[in-house]
Amino acid sequence: MEVFDSPEAARAFVSALRSQGRTVGFVPTMGALHEGHLSLVKTALSCDAAVASIFVNPTQFGPNEDLDKYPRTLTADLEKLKSAGVAAVFVPTRDQMYPDGFSSGVEPPRISETLEGVCRPGHFRGVVTVVLKLLNALPVSHAYFGKKDYQQWRVIEAMVRDLNVGTRIIGCETVREADGLAMSSRNRYLSDEERSRALLISKTLQHVETAYRAGERQTAILQNHMQQMLLGENIGHRDTATPETSPGRRLDTLQYASIVSSYDFTPLATIDRPAVALIAGMIGTTRLIDNRELGQTDV
Ligand code: PAF
Repeated sequence: MEVFDSPEAARAFVSALRSQGRTVGFVPTMGALHEGHLSLVKTALSCDAAVASIFVNPTQFGPNEDLDKYPRTLTADLEKLKSAGVAAVFVPTRDQMYPDGFSSGVEPPRISETLEGVCRPGHFRGVVTVVLKLLNALPVSHAYFGKKDYQQWRVIEAMVRDLNVGTRIIGCETVREADGLAMSSRNRYLSDEERSRALLISKTLQHVETAYRAGERQTAILQNHMQQMLLGENIGHRDTATPETSPGRRLDTLQYASIVSSYDFTPLATIDRPAVALIAGMIGTTRLIDNRELGQTDV
């Protein structure tokens, strides 16, 4: 497996494969790799070759976020990528991505303005800027993103469409622990007690999906269920299917529990098109997000 730190060397490697008519699948990461990343790699291997990147992108972290403590496990990550069959990994330094004098940035698409975009101002500008830089360094045919970061996937898809980037963006299913917790590099911050509380997020999303499958289409009712399960509060919409909640096992802060159109993230009063239920909140000092698609989403 080749390891490149310069964008020029990475581009030469991928361009050579593409000029032979080969498809190249790309998995961009910030390292601290887990089964979720490796499942993206497995999907990327359906191309003729798979490449990855490891770069903890400073421009997508806010001033009070976990950039400094973000887990860095480069040696183990490279081992995992090699065993998985990746042909090359791009591991640039901060200076290679953002040299002195760097002052450009990509304006993120409108879909970035809600939910994560509100909770993390500037985050999506950092994401789309680094993703465009990565796609310029690695002119791949396909790039794979986890649906765990559902809004990120949709934001990148819109940026690539708007800016005529010739890479196909593919969203891949979230990989979960046996008990339902969505895999995330940040799960390693959780104590045992926090981890058991974190399960409430996937259980709440499971409840929403069950209610949706049973025919509930009123967003206000489903969002009220989510709030009630996550915080033990009822915001006023009562109905017979309101879930049981156990006291004392809650999120510390709920940032959002929303249902929006899965394609463009517009709010929905009634679920009359493919939708996604999304949750973000804090357990202790760890920020967790998860989501569940409701209805067909292959749009
Ligand atoms: O999802 C991530 O790991 C990051 O946001 C990404 C897409 C690699 C950009 O830094």
